[in-house]
Amino acid sequence: MLIIALIAAGACVTSLAAGLAVRARLARCPVAGASAVSVAGLSRWRPVARALLRPDRRLAGLAIWLMIVDTVLALAAPWPLMLVVDYGLGRHRPPAWLPALDGLSPVTLAAVAAVAGLLLVVLGTVAGYLVTFLAGALAERMTLRLRAGLVTHMLHAAPQEVARFPLGELTSRLGADAAAVSETVAATVETLIPDSAVLAGMTVVTALLDWRLTLVVLGVIPLYAITARFRNRGLRGAQRQARARSGELATLVAEMLARIPLIHVFDRARAEAERYGHASARAAAAAVTALDASARYTPVTDTLPGLGLAAALVTGTVEVAAGRLTLGGLLVFLAYLSSLTTPVRSLARLSTVVARGSASRERIAELLCLPALAAGSSRPGQAAMLSTAAAVPVRRLRGPAISMEQVTFAHRPGKPVLVAASLDVPPGAFACITGPSGAGKSTLLSLLVRLVAPQAGRIALDGRDIHDIPLRELRELVTLVPQDPWLQAGTIAENIGYGRPGASHAQILAAAGPAGVADFAPALPHGYRTQVGAHGGLLSGGQKRRVAIARALVRDTPVLMLDEPTTGLDPAAESRLIDDLLAAARGKTLILVTHQPRLTARADQVLRVSDGQITGVDAHSGPGSPAGEWPGVPGAAYRVSSA
Ligand SMILES: Nc1ncnc2c1ncn2[C@@H]1O[C@H](COP(=O)(O)OP(=O)(O)OP(=O)(O)O)[C@@H](O)[C@H]1O
Ligand SMILES: [Mg+2]
Repeated sequence: MLIIALIAAGACVTSLAAGLAVRARLARCPVAGASAVSVAGLSRWRPVARALLRPDRRLAGLAIWLMIVDTVLALAAPWPLMLVVDYGLGRHRPPAWLPALDGLSPVTLAAVAAVAGLLLVVLGTVAGYLVTFLAGALAERMTLRLRAGLVTHMLHAAPQEVARFPLGELTSRLGADAAAVSETVAATVETLIPDSAVLAGMTVVTALLDWRLTLVVLGVIPLYAITARFRNRGLRGAQRQARARSGELATLVAEMLARIPLIHVFDRARAEAERYGHASARAAAAAVTALDASARYTPVTDTLPGLGLAAALVTGTVEVAAGRLTLGGLLVFLAYLSSLTTPVRSLARLSTVVARGSASRERIAELLCLPALAAGSSRPGQAAMLSTAAAVPVRRLRGPAISMEQVTFAHRPGKPVLVAASLDVPPGAFACITGPSGAGKSTLLSLLVRLVAPQAGRIALDGRDIHDIPLRELRELVTLVPQDPWLQAGTIAENIGYGRPGASHAQILAAAGPAGVADFAPALPHGYRTQVGAHGGLLSGGQKRRVAIARALVRDTPVLMLDEPTTGLDPAAESRLIDDLLAAARGKTLILVTHQPRLTARADQVLRVSDGQITGVDAHSGPGSPAGEWPGVPGAAYRVSSA
């Protein structure tokens, strides 16, 4: 017995030393080696916990082991009390494996017991600290991984699907909800394992002391289970509401702050502040309701240990009177019972944490269900071809031919933008696309660059279906200058360089010239190092657009598509831009959406998008003119002139 006790003490000290060493390493760099995880199934907790814990299984293992050490130390804590009461004050003789205690005076024995008790407490607090630190670091690392995995997923998901979620909602899910999920996993590890171990350990030890008394006390556990069941039923719905309201509030704030000038222009500051007040009141009310859904059961769960203690006091007295239990034994029992309150309470609380975390897990699962762009945009049966398609040389002398055959596309079911529409742009041609506002010109470009996939029909580059071309390769072939320039905070040079990672300054300047950035950037206070502000807000509309064109030109892809690139430019700048663009894009296939007759007049081919169809137009009769519509087959390529 003595040997076992010595081995246990040695194991305990070694474990604490190992824990301190890991703590020192983690304190220096808490997140080293924490990379993104992919959480495939979020419908249940087990796969989530497995995916999040697996990369840190050693750290988790050490934390769990230290929790067990902590538990053993907690279990040993009341025993010095028994030494004093039974062997010092009482008439019992110490057990044979503790011969050193035999013959000691009560005071010496009390001093030995006090030192032993203190040692246990000190070791227990060190173990407790290590458990708190390691479990906290584990939770942070899990949150980091989950967020990184989620962001990676979002960046590969079909943009149209991601756009269904407002920005604030995404921020809220990536922030608070991701943290709630990993904290739930961490809390489960932190609570379930050690507290179940404490409960099991205490049950065994107390059963050895007196099994009747133990049975009586265990009678309260089913009452806990029933209470937790009732509580969680109400809590789940309330928590779901609270998370949804909080997401709505984040959405409102994000949108409001993004349009402060608009609020001023329309004098809506007071109304918006009121709207924010109402939304935050709704969020707070939902949070309070969720809090109450769990807190209202606290009086019941907190009374239950008292019930156990009362039952133990009565039964224990009977047992001591019957001589089946020593007085010291009863004291140890009662000490266990009062220290049992903490693990039982935290186990009861754990079910609340899990119920709360489930609402967040559902919200994150919704994001993970978004189809990836590569898989989601290919039609059934084509996913396999994406990865196996042979690579084609990217650099070519002449841009590829672009064709669309019988393409049907609808953003929303029942509201088609294109219906069995076709087009045919010859290799290296300059095609202009015109048509009324809202007809589907930008949608057509989104289809051609595969940001969205058609519901029917085929889109091809040089006869090769774009859905058979791996996305990365397609991006090397085609660049789009979107209607909205989408600049990001940073300098002009950084925004242009975004088009080609690692682009040299010379390459950036070479793209800036034909895009017209060279007309204004050098005159700015910091030249190309001038900050453009959030969304390019510190530049004019025309300047933003020219930076966006330069960003596309620096990619130097054989196909270039521009969506209304000359909006915001004066006629002289527009004419210069088009001259330079045509020179820079010589040999490339160039598609330009425009309403400007000056531009369509210079195109090889003019196409008009209208009523779901794409028709060839006689450029010289002006875009949009019914007289210019190519008589005959809609969608037929109509080459107006040669370059
Ligand atoms: N993400 C979307 N979800 C649902 N409907 C959309 C979406 N994007 C565009 N639409 C709808 O599709 C139609 C075509 O839009 P698109 O932006 O392609 O028009 P457009 O011809 O480029 O117009 P404009 O000349 O005004 O830029 C419009 O009716 C528009 O409301
Ligand atoms: Mg458009």
